[in-house]
Amino acid sequence: MGTEQRPTAGAGPLPAAGPAGAATMRAAVQHRYGPPSVLEPAEVGRPLPGRGDVLVAVGAAAVHPGDYFVMTGEPYMVRLAFGLRRPRHGIPGRDLAGVVAAVGNDVTALRPGDEVFGWSTTGTLAEYACVPADNLAPVPAGLSVVAAAAVPTSALTALQAVRDIANVRPGRTVLVTGASGGVGSFAVQIAKAFGAEVTGVCSTRNVDLVRSLGADHVVDYTTTDFTRTGKRYDVILDNVEARPLAAVRRALTPTGTLIPNSGRGGRWLGPLGRIVRARVLSGFTRQRLRPFLSVEKRQDLLTLADLLATGQVTPLVDRTYPLDEAPDALAYVGAGHTRGKVVVTV
Ligand SMILES: NC(=O)c1ccc[n+]([C@@H]2O[C@H](COP(=O)([O-])OP(=O)(O)OC[C@H]3O[C@@H](n4cnc5c(N)ncnc54)[C@H](OP(=O)(O)O)[C@@H]3O)[C@@H](O)[C@H]2O)c1
Repeated sequence: MGTEQRPTAGAGPLPAAGPAGAATMRAAVQHRYGPPSVLEPAEVGRPLPGRGDVLVAVGAAAVHPGDYFVMTGEPYMVRLAFGLRRPRHGIPGRDLAGVVAAVGNDVTALRPGDEVFGWSTTGTLAEYACVPADNLAPVPAGLSVVAAAAVPTSALTALQAVRDIANVRPGRTVLVTGASGGVGSFAVQIAKAFGAEVTGVCSTRNVDLVRSLGADHVVDYTTTDFTRTGKRYDVILDNVEARPLAAVRRALTPTGTLIPNSGRGGRWLGPLGRIVRARVLSGFTRQRLRPFLSVEKRQDLLTLADLLATGQVTPLVDRTYPLDEAPDALAYVGAGHTRGKVVVTV
């Protein structure tokens, strides 16, 4: 599903560069929806933290398909949330890791100098971002700022899909499509951490990679259609939805759970038609068809921090780009062939 970015009360218009002497910062900004070339480097005003906010000096910011949809304004339905004619908030990006630069009066759990990761509400492709304290957790010891930035949205989506929607337990068979992508690479590792027998679906060039993430079995989609092997799975996390729903259901056990999770789709409604079809069909079958929208929860960020600290999950970072090359980072994500995560360093 593609509307994984949600605006929050803290998201405001692009801070204008203030009067002479006011603090400014470098950022990648967009004044209209469009392809990655709409992003321009600019000097803008530094956001000011409210009472419950933290000002983070951004070290790294991951970008993912949701950021691409919001940048392009397509599917058009994202504009209902992010601004009808132009983006309401001009700095893209949501996931970040960095160092606390200042805290609002009500923030007691964090202090300047702490390394944190989480979700911003004011954009992350910038030197500073304002973040509600509840959207942050300390970076686990030993994790680089780039690896930490790769975690929030994709790993949270994988965690909530595997644990909350599919209720994965030891011995369950789980199939993950897009296993080499941002969500899939976390989902393979998290399902393994929950004791499942995991099958990853990817292309030939990623077979060894997906195996190295811990997958017990790998299906190469360029030679084998997983819906036609005769194997059935308790859980299918379909991050790609390259095969029709009816075909995917053939690969699901009679009471299994299918999570259709691709945000890609038509120009107007994106994946909405597929989501509605799955919801309606769900009422007529014992199979559980459960599209979902991940929800940002600090407690889940702490759970992920534990999985990272114990080495059960390791972020897979494909490429890093400097802030000036943010358009290239978004273009690469938009092409849909990332191997793990794409991170912009600031
Ligand atoms: N539910 C939510 O709240 C939520 C939150 C976040 C993301 N999402 C959605 O989750 C989906 C996955 O996101 P992502 O970050 O992992 O990035 P992505 O760009 O969708 O995935 C990239 C990966 O998919 C692989 N892939 C492409 N076609 C494939 C196929 N037919 N079979 C298997 N793998 C294939 C690519 O491998 P090759 O290059 O080898 O083809 C690449 O490694 C997105 O559509 C996103 O919108 C949903």
